[in-house]
Amino acid sequence: MAKKKSKSAKDANLYYPIDSIVQNANVKEYENLYKKSIKDVEGFWAEQANTLDWYKKWDKVLDDSKKPFYKWFKGAKTNIVQNAIDRHLKTWRRNKIAFIWEGEPGDVKVFSYHALNREVTKFANILKSMGVKKRDIVTIYMPQIPELAFAMLACAKIGAAHSVVYGGFSVEALAERIADAQSRVLVTADGGWRRGKVNDLKGIVNEAISRSPTIEACITVKRTGHEVFMENDRDFWYHDLASLPIANSKCETEVMDAEDMLFILYTSGTTGKPKGLVHTHGGYSVYTSTTHRMVFDIKDEDRWWCAADPGWITGHSYIVYAPLINGSTIMMYEGAPNHPYPNRWWQMVEKYGITILYTSPTAIRGLMRFGDQWPKRHDISSLRLLGSVGEPINPEAWKWYHSVIGDNKCPIMDTWWQTETGGFMITPLPITPLKPGSGTKPFFGIEADVVNEEGKTVKPGEEGKLIIKNPWPGMARTVMGDPKRYVDTYWKDYKEQGWYKAGDSARIDKDGYFWIIGRIDDVIKVSGYRLGTAEIESALVSHPQVAEAAAIALPHELKGNAIHAYVILKAGLVGDAALDKSLRDHVGHEMGPIAKPESITFVDSLPKTRSGKIMRRVLKARAQGLPEGDLSTIEE
Ligand code: WTA
Repeated sequence: MAKKKSKSAKDANLYYPIDSIVQNANVKEYENLYKKSIKDVEGFWAEQANTLDWYKKWDKVLDDSKKPFYKWFKGAKTNIVQNAIDRHLKTWRRNKIAFIWEGEPGDVKVFSYHALNREVTKFANILKSMGVKKRDIVTIYMPQIPELAFAMLACAKIGAAHSVVYGGFSVEALAERIADAQSRVLVTADGGWRRGKVNDLKGIVNEAISRSPTIEACITVKRTGHEVFMENDRDFWYHDLASLPIANSKCETEVMDAEDMLFILYTSGTTGKPKGLVHTHGGYSVYTSTTHRMVFDIKDEDRWWCAADPGWITGHSYIVYAPLINGSTIMMYEGAPNHPYPNRWWQMVEKYGITILYTSPTAIRGLMRFGDQWPKRHDISSLRLLGSVGEPINPEAWKWYHSVIGDNKCPIMDTWWQTETGGFMITPLPITPLKPGSGTKPFFGIEADVVNEEGKTVKPGEEGKLIIKNPWPGMARTVMGDPKRYVDTYWKDYKEQGWYKAGDSARIDKDGYFWIIGRIDDVIKVSGYRLGTAEIESALVSHPQVAEAAAIALPHELKGNAIHAYVILKAGLVGDAALDKSLRDHVGHEMGPIAKPESITFVDSLPKTRSGKIMRRVLKARAQGLPEGDLSTIEE
């Protein structure tokens, strides 16, 4: 009964859920509930919001008087910590496990909701003692250790916003984000474990701080014990601060407006520096917890593992906030999936009895490559649901995930969403008949479509631009400090209609299923990580021997996409293998290892428009031996 049921020729390619999934699902029906949610969007979200605690409820669900600057739950008072921690302490859940954390060397820590509250409160008091106030932005740059989640929650608790910078980023990426956020306080660690080695976060921090005049204090958590440089009066060990009387376990959760900023998260855009997208306490709490509960069918007995990095939106929404609001038991792992052997994940699924696993196609392809024998060594039958996110999943990887990991009984939730959307937008529910590679249909309250330049819906099966027609509570509210950029990037192309442009191309098939094709702008998804061509190019150009650079993405079997760079050297210089390596190392040092180009080609010129814009699509077509398209604007 588990596999595909070919009811008729039309259904031959559909994968139906097994009966026990359907019978016990939190949501048992889609079509009618979807129609109802679209007819009364505010009613749907009010109903969801009513499942949460509020200090004061809203006067109005949606305020659309200043489009596209929508406001949700206007007049309401809350704090995400009120729902993520405080309310659980009043129930039996205070004794429930909130986090199970395993370090790469194999050390384990477990925190109940009670213990989580103690740790977060302690951290909150330490931040206060460092002068952090409501509305400050604290930058957090950490490995995947529990203190990362504690620091985020501590900021939220005292009404400060956090800006988490992914621990795989490096000096310039970090410095640039600190400068934009004007952070005075930075939280980091002496390193983290990755493939048996310590990554030297504090070394990167020290160099970044030397480029960041705003930083006054840096709090360092001791994780690895390897020696790091600490500057007097600027650097503080977390454990030293935690032993002071100020670090007690009493701290009131700050009462916030629903629309107050919870965090900013930088994401790569088409041009220029990364944008700090702003998310808020109220709408984000409602949106992330609702999507998590309905899509992943969360029950109290689940053990939830979102194997992303908390430094990206997936980790913010679905490692930290949504599962805590839903009172889940969360698995968190520090290191690499194949360390010391490719069975590491499956060993942990068995050991902790994980019931839901949510990861990226790159991780699945990477583990698939090692063969079935690694998962087969373990009893992973506790799994009941699987998930995928970050890039399109190729049907081959989908089928392996479904059969070998899911034993043909676990539906795969292929969730399409973005940093900008806060949570899942196009996604199956556990009851949805699945097609490998399709995110199926829009979530409740979301009207999605695929249109052409003029905004006309394209024919079934035809490629077009993915747009969202109506607002939702989890949407980013603006780009910090640059509202114009927010409007120009997302709302300008379909201004008349008032639609949100996602930046992806997609198709809708004749059954109404969505198929995401990929980015249509200069955003590159490498292994599911989001990078901008502009950032990679500016890292290349900051090398003393480079005059100009262009970066493009080409398909890659494992990573989905890989970065290829074209470089014009300064006059008189010639490219060779040594310079190739030096450029790649330079990008790694400035941006981080994930941004290192796969290949560098030294060229004498780049295809440009008459206004001087590099025509990356032409480079891409040439590299793939495809037609170069309309060249009427080229000036080479
Ligand atoms: C891509 C990650 C296909 C897409 C949550 C989007 C996907 C970008 C999927 C956002 C999916 C995300 N299928 N493509 N299930 N999920 N994407 O901001 O191109 O890091 O626009 O958010 O990832 O990346 P971001």
